Amino acid sequence: MTRKKMATGASTVVRPPQVVSQGNPQLDALARALSLECTTQFSAVADQQYLYDYQGCLSLGLAPSAREHPVYVDFSQQWRTRHRGKELLLKAIGGRREGLRVIDATAGLGRDSFLLATYGASVEMCERHPVVAALLTDGLKRAAQDPDVAGFVQRMTLHEGSAIERLSRCLGSADQAPDVVYVDPMFPDSGKSVLVKKEMRLFHHLVGKDDDDDALLAAALAVARHRVVVKRPPKAPIIDGPALSALGARGRPQFAVTGKAVRFDVYPIKAFGNN
Ligand SMILES: C[S@@+](CC[C@H](N)C(=O)[O-])C[C@H]1O[C@@H](n2cnc3c(N)ncnc32)[C@H](O)[C@@H]1O
Repeated sequence: MTRKKMATGASTVVRPPQVVSQGNPQLDALARALSLECTTQFSAVADQQYLYDYQGCLSLGLAPSAREHPVYVDFSQQWRTRHRGKELLLKAIGGRREGLRVIDATAGLGRDSFLLATYGASVEMCERHPVVAALLTDGLKRAAQDPDVAGFVQRMTLHEGSAIERLSRCLGSADQAPDVVYVDPMFPDSGKSVLVKKEMRLFHHLVGKDDDDDALLAAALAVARHRVVVKRPPKAPIIDGPALSALGARGRPQFAVTGKAVRFDVYPIKAFGNN
């Protein structure tokens, strides 16, 4: 078995997933496109991750014998099981505004992007991990066929690659600049959260920790027109690092919207309405 570091900016080197194609030509093509090993069956290696078709969804998971639910993107399910009234993210972005232009610099499985789209925003999602981007692409495709959510995902587009590079293309071009940049980098797994223990463990194993979050936040602060919002665990320190020290007070949040499980640090740039 080959060991490769997938081309991302994250720090951890992990064994790449294998694709179990079982004769599915789309999965064969995905394995080729991502330069992943393609196999016809699951092996006995304990922590080997696989990309495979689970009930029509491109999924990432351990072998079925591990009896763990795989990870896949399902916006229809997210819409059906949404919790109303706990909309901290909505508060953090400054309220509902039709046509708000958001760059989600750390798309991941697209859950926050989808929420933003349900609030009326147009969301450009950036995702640099090719396997995560493949899961997201598959989820967007399926959601486009579901009339309940198709209108929301129509407002979501995916940029596969570095958000820092994408944001730098907005520099000096006011009409390209997003109203809001949203940042939710991987945070080290404390091992305490139930969520991290279950589904997110797979994700942490695949993606690792994002070590360049300070450079990403600095790039976001340089281009956002109205605000930058950063998602953190409630007791986590604010994002800090060499790229932010030079910015002084601008590199620190002015306020936070805090819930039981999450905190949104808000970096206001300019009040909404002042263009
Ligand atoms: C914690 S996850 C985001 C979860 C997401 N908010 C959601 O709702 O599903 C962070 C993701 O951001 C991606 N990422 C981190 N830094 C990035 C960067 N500079 N450019 C593009 N993607 C990045 C990682 O690969 C990872 O998939």
